[in-house]
Amino acid sequence: MKTFFMIKPDGVKRNLIGDVVSRVEKEGFVITKMKMMSISDDLAKRHYAEHSEKPFFNDLVDFITSGPVVAMEVEGEDAVSEIRRIMGATNPSDAEPGTIRADLATKLEENVVHGSDSEESAERELSLFFE
Ligand code: RTP
Ligand code: MG
Repeated sequence: MKTFFMIKPDGVKRNLIGDVVSRVEKEGFVITKMKMMSISDDLAKRHYAEHSEKPFFNDLVDFITSGPVVAMEVEGEDAVSEIRRIMGATNPSDAEPGTIRADLATKLEENVVHGSDSEESAERELSLFFE
């Protein structure tokens, strides 16, 4: 199974690319595509379309377009749910120790990584970023 995984601008700015990638590889996943890129306003709005009516939508779009990200296609058993597990909860203060967000993030709005939340999201997001 494949999922879409991304290191957000805060993770790139804080030099966490190697640490995050290493955690994914050590869990046995294979990175099958990878690129550093800037996200346009249009791509950000399409990627986060499910949140378009939320009060934090504009801040979310501003943040994800604020600097380069590292976008990846990651392959492995139960990739969608397993990558979400190693990421930890959305709010780092709720995340289990040992997860990426618990260990590397402190703020809900700057939580270092994104991972698709379902197989449908994975397909949609992989085609947005890699086609
Ligand atoms: P992501 O999509 O970024 O992987 O995060 P997620 O699935 O764990 O969380 P989601 O509900 O999809 O929310 C997307 C991002 O929006 C920010 N957020 N801010 N201010 C707020 O109340 C609030 N709620 C969510 C978070 O940075 C979250 O990662
Ligand atoms: Mg999400």
